[in-house]
Amino acid sequence: MTLPPLNPALLHLDSDHLWLMHCSEGPVPRSVVRSVRAYLHKELWPWELKWKEDYLGIPDELRREAAKIVGGEASDITLTPSTSSGLVTVAQSLRWSRGDEVVAPLGEFPTNIWPWKALEARGVRFREVPLWDGHQAGAAAWSSTAPRAGDDVEARLLAALGHATRVLAVSWVRFQDGLKLDVAALGAACRARGVHLVVDGIQGAGTLPADLTGVSAFASGGHKGLLGPQGQGFLWTDPAFRKDLIPMGSWMSVEEGTAFDRASTDHNRAWLEDGQRMEPGTLSIVSCAGALESFRTVNEAGIPAIAAHIRRLQERFLEGLARNPAWAEEAQRLRTLLEAGRLGSILSLHHGGRGPAAMQELLMKGMRRGVYASVREGYLRVAFHGWHDPEDVERVVDWLE
Ligand SMILES: Cc1ncc(COP(=O)(O)O)c(C=O)c1O
Repeated sequence: MTLPPLNPALLHLDSDHLWLMHCSEGPVPRSVVRSVRAYLHKELWPWELKWKEDYLGIPDELRREAAKIVGGEASDITLTPSTSSGLVTVAQSLRWSRGDEVVAPLGEFPTNIWPWKALEARGVRFREVPLWDGHQAGAAAWSSTAPRAGDDVEARLLAALGHATRVLAVSWVRFQDGLKLDVAALGAACRARGVHLVVDGIQGAGTLPADLTGVSAFASGGHKGLLGPQGQGFLWTDPAFRKDLIPMGSWMSVEEGTAFDRASTDHNRAWLEDGQRMEPGTLSIVSCAGALESFRTVNEAGIPAIAAHIRRLQERFLEGLARNPAWAEEAQRLRTLLEAGRLGSILSLHHGGRGPAAMQELLMKGMRRGVYASVREGYLRVAFHGWHDPEDVERVVDWLE
């Protein structure tokens, strides 16, 4: 096996903690700590802070790195604290009419539910679509069947769009079952129907190459596969879509808002047309400085290389899992999903009737061996990233024996 694309020495992990939980929280590279410390030192002596280089320069560089992550333009990036704030920005800024509808898959992470449900008072309806036979969520989540390679989830979503649907809002990679949706196919079909495709991208960002053809908006926090600190993410928007969004209305979302050689009290300005149109005002430069190092580390390793590496580790893991009678069937289901290009970096092992207590016990057994995974809604989530190696895979296989 080739060397991991992300040099483990860039991180601060140790062998007591085999971290398979970047789908919850990614470790930040060591360079993030250096960069944040260097910036904060400047805050000790404000005269050291440079308006162009720091206040404007760090966010500008971050927008450029964020654009590389999605294969887009820096001018289409809006810096936001989180996935939630990106989706809320879109939901609150769209010009809705009473009777409009938002459609989403059943069982989305709540980031992709509440921004739309909050529009109920404005006469906008939120409707969820089960993605496969036996798919359940909410209080019945643990009774859900698991997705299979043959399930045409995109067809189900598209068939559910109606004449009132304005937005289809989906996760790129789903947080519990790990299913990856074909965002480009959905985007093309949504465009043809005059529906906006809005994507919660956090579970794919940094571990999968993106194709945003046909997508109207893509929001991601930085703290999972992107290995950033909590509280710094981004929103990408298609320029034509953004034009119709009501501007954020901050002093930084207007032309020359930060040009102090012009009277700040001069209100005769146009709204910006680039992503900064939707930014909320002064940014957290500390967060930007941290995220910049993280995003740069991921981009330098190369997202296609990270994705290919994860895939090789997943294949190896599923080979090992297939030899375990207790998990062989699940290994087979996941292998066919992987081969069908249906998975991101999360391998979600369905509990198969074991129930919450047994899954919790399994997690505890893992932790006692220094293996850190997570359970969500009936699935044990094993998430490899660009720094893991075959030995890590063997440790996970051994834990599940
Ligand atoms: C699919 C998905 N979206 C969003 C989030 C997090 O959203 P935010 O960036 O707002 O914390 C998570 C996990 O916490 C997630 O799994």
